[in-house]
Amino acid sequence: MSNLTGPGDAEEPFDAVDVIAAKRDGYRLSDAQIDWVVDAYTRGVVAEEQMSALAMAVYLRGMAPAETARWTRAMIRSGELMDFSSLGRLTVDKHSTGGVGDKITLPLAPLVASFGVAVPQLSGRGLGHTGGTLDKLESIPGWRADLSRDEIMSALGPGGPGAVVCAAGPGLAPADRRLYALRDTTATVSCLPLIASSIMSKKIAEGTGALVLDVKVGSGAFMKERDQARELARTMVHLGRDAGVRTRAVLTDMSTPLGLTVGNALEVAEAVEVLAGGGPSDVVDLTLALAGHMLDVVGRPVEEHLLRQALTGGRAMDVWRHMVRRQGGDPDAPLPRAPHTQVVPAPASGVLTRLDALAVGVAAWRLGAGRARKEDSVQAVAGVRLHAKPGDVVNRGQPLLSLHTATPGRVDRALQALGDGIVVSPADSREAVQARARREAGVVLEVVTQGQAG
Ligand code: URA
Repeated sequence: MSNLTGPGDAEEPFDAVDVIAAKRDGYRLSDAQIDWVVDAYTRGVVAEEQMSALAMAVYLRGMAPAETARWTRAMIRSGELMDFSSLGRLTVDKHSTGGVGDKITLPLAPLVASFGVAVPQLSGRGLGHTGGTLDKLESIPGWRADLSRDEIMSALGPGGPGAVVCAAGPGLAPADRRLYALRDTTATVSCLPLIASSIMSKKIAEGTGALVLDVKVGSGAFMKERDQARELARTMVHLGRDAGVRTRAVLTDMSTPLGLTVGNALEVAEAVEVLAGGGPSDVVDLTLALAGHMLDVVGRPVEEHLLRQALTGGRAMDVWRHMVRRQGGDPDAPLPRAPHTQVVPAPASGVLTRLDALAVGVAAWRLGAGRARKEDSVQAVAGVRLHAKPGDVVNRGQPLLSLHTATPGRVDRALQALGDGIVVSPADSREAVQARARREAGVVLEVVTQGQAG
């Protein structure tokens, strides 16, 4: 173990330099070191550059399961805890690790609430190429993300819609809030123990009784490989179980965007189509699968045909309209539309075998749908509409994508982002057969339950 000691502070039990050096040299951090470093960072005693060095050491050396569990607990304790027990209702939340075109929360929360289970969905904004649920909802005229604790409780209580999607207040896991922003600027986001502790500290502090995690796998996700995604899922399910939250994870494909739209207002419109009983089949199937798991994990299983009926029969739509109105939005107001659109044609005839999620996500981001820095604003109208999905037959020159933006000057960089993200292969090629098979297999790849988390 390193015997480096910094100048220190007589009031503090550890020195940040020693903690960093210990992790750098591959040692396990003790519970006391972890509790201290997270708390001292939240208090501003551990400097940003020290925490960046520690995050990089964790990135390179990893953490043992017990360290990840303690780190998560320390982040939960850095702030306040929400408590929904006074509602006297079961609560269940869903969290996605982030993908492209992932608007599932929008139809899912009202669908689950329409079966009498409360859905507190405290969400974040998008950073980088993955969109944020709050950014999407803010394209609805009048809708507001910031609610007080009383407003959240009353939305979930008697007479409320039973579902609320709003911003997590600054008091919830503040250590994660700072650390996540720091990781974003120090290339330390895609690190399994840091992702698991970041997500689970917020979800456990939020006070939900049960949680279903949608762990994305593929080019548009943090986890590019299925084995990594499975390990992340198991780690998070384990953390949830240890905190008394009934937790389940579903691994889902993120090699191509979900649905036919990427970008804020475009995605809201597609979510509303799903709530009206239509919409693209992959979005409908994932909504039904996650709703089924959410209701099952709280002990209220509902058969899939009844969930489907709640979409086609308008029951989930009623909850959606109530939910939007409750947060100041007008569910009947037209959504904003981009003043400028440009079509990207199919480069050849054949079968579309690749429409890469990361490439489309970055293109949408460059068109103005996402932000590069936390303080940037997003364009409600910007994004990409897909006219074909992998596995579809296409003819050279037919529209493949439409780029939407309020600032036409952004189109060239969006086109560059698409680069080799689009591939059309001969109809009888192995790639074409594989693309069709992947499409038929659907987006849900596997499920990790508490029993399997180890
Ligand atoms: N989402 C989070 O909240 N934290 C991460 O680290 C990654 C995704």
